[in-house]
Amino acid sequence: MTKLVVTGGRELSGEVRISAAKNAVLPIIAAALAGRTPSVIEEVPRLVDVLTLADVLRQLGVGAEFAGDNLVIDPQKITSCEAPYEHVRRMRASFLVMGPLLAREGWARIALPGGCAIGSRPIDLHLKGFEALGAEIIHGHGFIEARARNGLHGANIYLDFPSVGATENIIMAAVLADGHTVLENPAQEPEIIDLANFLNNMGAKVRGAGTDTIRIEGVGVLKGVNYTVIPDRVEAGTYMVAVAMAGGEVRLTNVLPEHMKPVTAKLREVGVTVAEDIDNVLVKSDRRLLAVDIKTLPYPGFPTDMQAQFMAMLSVASGVSSVQETVFENRFMHVDELRKFGASILVEGRVAKVFGVNRLAGARVKATDLRAGAAMVLAGMVADGETEVDYVHHIDRGYDRLVEKLCRIGGQIRRTGG
Ligand code: UD1
Repeated sequence: MTKLVVTGGRELSGEVRISAAKNAVLPIIAAALAGRTPSVIEEVPRLVDVLTLADVLRQLGVGAEFAGDNLVIDPQKITSCEAPYEHVRRMRASFLVMGPLLAREGWARIALPGGCAIGSRPIDLHLKGFEALGAEIIHGHGFIEARARNGLHGANIYLDFPSVGATENIIMAAVLADGHTVLENPAQEPEIIDLANFLNNMGAKVRGAGTDTIRIEGVGVLKGVNYTVIPDRVEAGTYMVAVAMAGGEVRLTNVLPEHMKPVTAKLREVGVTVAEDIDNVLVKSDRRLLAVDIKTLPYPGFPTDMQAQFMAMLSVASGVSSVQETVFENRFMHVDELRKFGASILVEGRVAKVFGVNRLAGARVKATDLRAGAAMVLAGMVADGETEVDYVHHIDRGYDRLVEKLCRIGGQIRRTGG
């Protein structure tokens, strides 16, 4: 089985280029389905999640091939509107094809989604949105079908919770609906703005993405476009934490500092120096880290996708930190793994108290989900001796060449067993 072997104790220095955001690339690939002509998504990292979605598209009869680093999506001949279980179980975001399929073809049947095991992760908000737009929803055995025989029509939709996926799916369905849609309390993540920009380049009329009200005027047809996706703020945040923990000085390029604000603010509180430029950040740390309190929230709050990495860092900070997870109900699986390094963490419901210790000891641990996997690598980089990280497939879902990038700035990590 593939493992990562991490040797702790190396300071980091140099430069890392951040890749395109996984969480923006995925909905944008799905949105390209809604076009009548091919789209070219530029500099797409070959993440397992991206390859999985490309498989789903091919299953629908849609071309999805790399040309160098660009992903070319040719949706001219959709031959199927069904995404089968063997694809969807590998990645929950496969469900994002439902909105564009419904909009363009009038129906879609998607197996029930899988993905990271972090809570029950329902899809009720996606479905309520489709129903409001006039779709009939059928719950089958292991699949969901949506039909809009007479097309979709604009509607007023209020989301009970600003779900990222539901916001994206509803936008993708509404862009081709007949009339005006108002989506209130949508997610405001930068990835939502990027999706809206992509759709608007295709000819859609989406206004207000990134605010608490999104207005969509349906259009008759969308065309394919060339598009460059925003940088990955979670990948950038992960490297920022790596520098904070390991010490040293690293410049991250292809970063939008504006998107990093919630993470940067907390890192400064921890004692890390972060200097921002237009599209890069310089991170410096002397490894003297202070405890802080964190509460995950929808954007612009502190991102749940950085919670595990921060917990690894706070395990070696001076003092007691509190980490509260409010977005997902079961996102503390990394706690047991961090304890194997000697971290001192007490969980009560959705709050983890982290009692900083002076040293971590190398351990054999598992990547329990994507971001938790990154947290294991980070802990291993400062632990005494060697750490073995198992279940690496979780990390490969969402980090572009993690080992190569960390080694280039001085980390000592190798992949074994395949
Ligand atoms: C996206 C991101 C993921 C990130 C998450 C929260 C992608 C591909 N993934 O996931 O990395 O951790 O946003 O920032 O972009 N919920 C419902 N009903 C629904 C949908 C969601 O109750 O219909 C709940 C979920 O159970 C969860 C919360 O809303 O507790 C947030 O989920 P959501 O924002 O939808 O996350 P994803 O889009 O799945």
